[in-house]
Amino acid sequence: MNILLTGGLGFIGSHAATVLAEQGHQIILVDNLCNSQIEVLSHLGQIIGKQPIFYEADVRNTNLLNSIFQKHSIDLVIHFAGLKSVAESVTNPLKYYDNNVGGSISLLEAMQGAKVNKLIFSSSATVYGVPQYLPYDESHPTVPMNTYGKTKLQVEEILRDLSHADPDWSIVCLRYFNPVGAHESGLIGEHPRGMPNNLMPYVCQVASGKLPHLNIFGDDYETKDGTGERDYIHVMDLAEGHVAALNFVNQHPGFHAINLGTGVSYSVYDLIGAFEQAANSTIVRKVQPRRSGDLAIYYAKADKAKNLLGWQAKRDLQVMCKSGWNFHKQKS
Ligand SMILES: NC(=O)c1ccc[n+]([C@@H]2O[C@H](COP(=O)([O-])OP(=O)(O)OC[C@H]3O[C@@H](n4cnc5c(N)ncnc54)[C@H](O)[C@@H]3O)[C@@H](O)[C@H]2O)c1
Repeated sequence: MNILLTGGLGFIGSHAATVLAEQGHQIILVDNLCNSQIEVLSHLGQIIGKQPIFYEADVRNTNLLNSIFQKHSIDLVIHFAGLKSVAESVTNPLKYYDNNVGGSISLLEAMQGAKVNKLIFSSSATVYGVPQYLPYDESHPTVPMNTYGKTKLQVEEILRDLSHADPDWSIVCLRYFNPVGAHESGLIGEHPRGMPNNLMPYVCQVASGKLPHLNIFGDDYETKDGTGERDYIHVMDLAEGHVAALNFVNQHPGFHAINLGTGVSYSVYDLIGAFEQAANSTIVRKVQPRRSGDLAIYYAKADKAKNLLGWQAKRDLQVMCKSGWNFHKQKS
C-alpha cells in the first residue's frame, strides 16, 4: 500500500515508518520539522535500505497536501503530526487548537478531495482524564484535564461525525499510553527540540551529564512507592500496533477507538531503577512538590487491541531503558 505518514520524522512516526517499510509498504512522509530533525530522514534510509519519499510541509497547508495526494496514489493515512506538550497546551491553547484540530481538518479535507477514506489517528490516553476506574477501557468517560487532551478528543469527535456522515470511512483512533525506548539500531529515538517533556529523554540527559538532576514531582501519591505510575510502552511495540491497525482498518469501515498500552503500570522509581541498571549509572534525583494536573496512576486495559487487532506489547521495561539509552549515547 501507499501510506502517507504525517509527522513521519517524529518519535513515533519514524519508528512506525521502519516497520511499515519492512512490510513492503511504500511510505510517504510529511513533516514541518517543528519538533524533529531532518537527519532522521537519512537515518531512516539507513534502516530501511532506501531513502523514503519526504515532503517538508505543514498539514495546515491544504493546497500542498492536495498536490501530494495528486502526485501519489495514497491508500491510507496515518496522522501522527501534532503538538504534544501538556504544559505548553495550557499556556498557549490557540497554538494547540490551530495545529492539532486545524491541522486535522485540513488533512481530512485533502483526503476527502482525493477520495482517500482510510485513516489511523494518533490519539492519547489523556482523553480519559481523572480515572473513575482503572484500568481505563475504551468505554471510560472522556473528560480531558488539559488543552492537549481536549484537542485529541475534539479530533476524535470530528472523526466520529465524519464516519456517521459517510459510512465508507474507516477510522481507527489509537489511544497511546506512554511510549519510551528506541529502535534497536540506535539510529532513531526520541529527540525532542529544547527541554524534554517526557521522563525517559530527561533521564537520559541526566545520565549523560547534560542536566544536573531529575526532578521527581511528588513521592507522596497513593501508589506502591509514592511516585506516579504510568503504562510505559516500547515505541517499537507501538509501531507494530500500527501495522495491526492497518490490517484492521482495511477490512472494518466505521469509527473505532482502541488503547495501545501494555496493561501494566510502572512507577517513576521503577523506571529509574531499570534505567540505572541498563546504563550502569546513578541518576541524581530531587523530589519536588506535586505538579497540579498530574494523575497518581493510570494504565490501559489492553484487551480490545488484543481481540480486534491481534496485537499485544511484548517488550519489557529493561528493553525500553536499554534501547532508549543506546539511542541517546549514539546521538551525543
Ligand atoms: N509521545 C507521547 O508520549 C504521545 C502519547 C500519546 C499520543 N501522542 C501523539 O502521537 C503523535 C506523535 O507523537 P510523537 O511522540 O512522535 O511526537 P513528535 O513531536 O516526536 O512527532 C510529531 C511530529 O509531527 C510534526 N508536526 C507537528 N505539527 C505539524 C504540522 N502542523 N505539520 C506537519 N508536521 C507537524 C513534528 O515536527 C514532529 O516531527 C502526536 O500526535 C502526539 O500527540 C504522543
